[in-house]
Amino acid sequence: MYQHLYRRFLQANQGKQHFACHSHHYWPDVTRDAMLRYWDDSAARVDDKWDYFFSERIPVVQQKIAQILNTGAPQQLVFAPNTHELLYRILSSLDWCKPLKVLSTDSEFHSFTRQINRLNERQTLQLTSVPTLPFADFEQRFMRTLKGDEYDLVFISQVFFNSGMAIENLAKLVNAAPKSTLFVIDGYHGFMALPTDLSGIADRVFYLAGSYKYAQGGEGCCFAHIPLGCTLRPEYTGWFAEFGELDLARQGQVQYSTDGMRFAGSTMDFSALYRLEAVFDMLEEEHLNVATVHDYVRQLQHTFLQQLDRHQHPELNRSHLLMHNPAHHGHFLTFQLSDSAKVQRLHQQLKQHGIITDARGDRLRFGFALYQNAEQIDLSVLEQLDE
Ligand SMILES: Cc1ncc(COP(=O)(O)O)c(C=O)c1O
Repeated sequence: MYQHLYRRFLQANQGKQHFACHSHHYWPDVTRDAMLRYWDDSAARVDDKWDYFFSERIPVVQQKIAQILNTGAPQQLVFAPNTHELLYRILSSLDWCKPLKVLSTDSEFHSFTRQINRLNERQTLQLTSVPTLPFADFEQRFMRTLKGDEYDLVFISQVFFNSGMAIENLAKLVNAAPKSTLFVIDGYHGFMALPTDLSGIADRVFYLAGSYKYAQGGEGCCFAHIPLGCTLRPEYTGWFAEFGELDLARQGQVQYSTDGMRFAGSTMDFSALYRLEAVFDMLEEEHLNVATVHDYVRQLQHTFLQQLDRHQHPELNRSHLLMHNPAHHGHFLTFQLSDSAKVQRLHQQLKQHGIITDARGDRLRFGFALYQNAEQIDLSVLEQLDE
């Protein structure tokens, strides 16, 4: 139905059923034109291009993201090539000379997990990690832990990368944390997949996401929403953080921008921002928004599961599907098999038949996106695979 928007990626991958959209989403054709536009703008403006980016292009993309998240605060958005950089800036706002307490889960993406595990080698950090499974009572368990102590930082995903399960009541968790706690949401699997309204918590949360997945702009355009009124002074800071209106620093101190730019780094390639803007324009022209894309994807997931039921594969079936509440689930389905060897084998077998999935440990993930058509989903090969 929407394949005409993705002609180039589809043409380059003929014969494949690409179910790894949650990992490496196809780029719509308009992003190719955006790349050329970036080149042409760079050639035409040379020394003046940065002024142009900061006064014309960045504000447009900030506006669109703020609308999608309903923060009402485009000026609080700051960009970086990846979320890790933004995460580290937030972490560097903490006072590492004193003992620190961090609360998170056992299901955060490697950018956070690896970094926090490294920092946890310091004797001064106390890291508490709440298991996400069983998911039925996860939010209650997380809430109990949150209320049981005073944490300096909370880090939690909106949609967990290793299951697709989504937090039902983010605002309730955020509001349960003391005002002094930095509350960070990893929104990478939520942004532009699930309708998201941060209006009630825009003054409390850091929200991290990027363009590589459901935003369809490819790598290189990650962002953070910085809580309104935030006066933190990240120690890991780049010279872009001194753009715009500056706050009053004590004598001898480094000054920071008063808005989201206080969390900025330095020179980056903004071609990904051009691609992201092109995707926003394309969706608008097609009268699509996050809610309509989400409905379309849910329909694809429904068709996929119906087919799966018909084929009765011993491993790839509903009994191995990690899903708690279909109304609060991301754009991929995760099957937990008995061991990682089985997952690898199935992943490779499917690949040989042109079915592209994503294998992580004992979990096999299938993602869904606009460039798939329900009537083209074909899992009949499952009946031919040997075990
Ligand atoms: C939940 C989540 N967060 C973040 C990222 C990306 O992290 P980074 O931008 O640091 O590479 C991913 C990428 O797959 C992810 O799944």
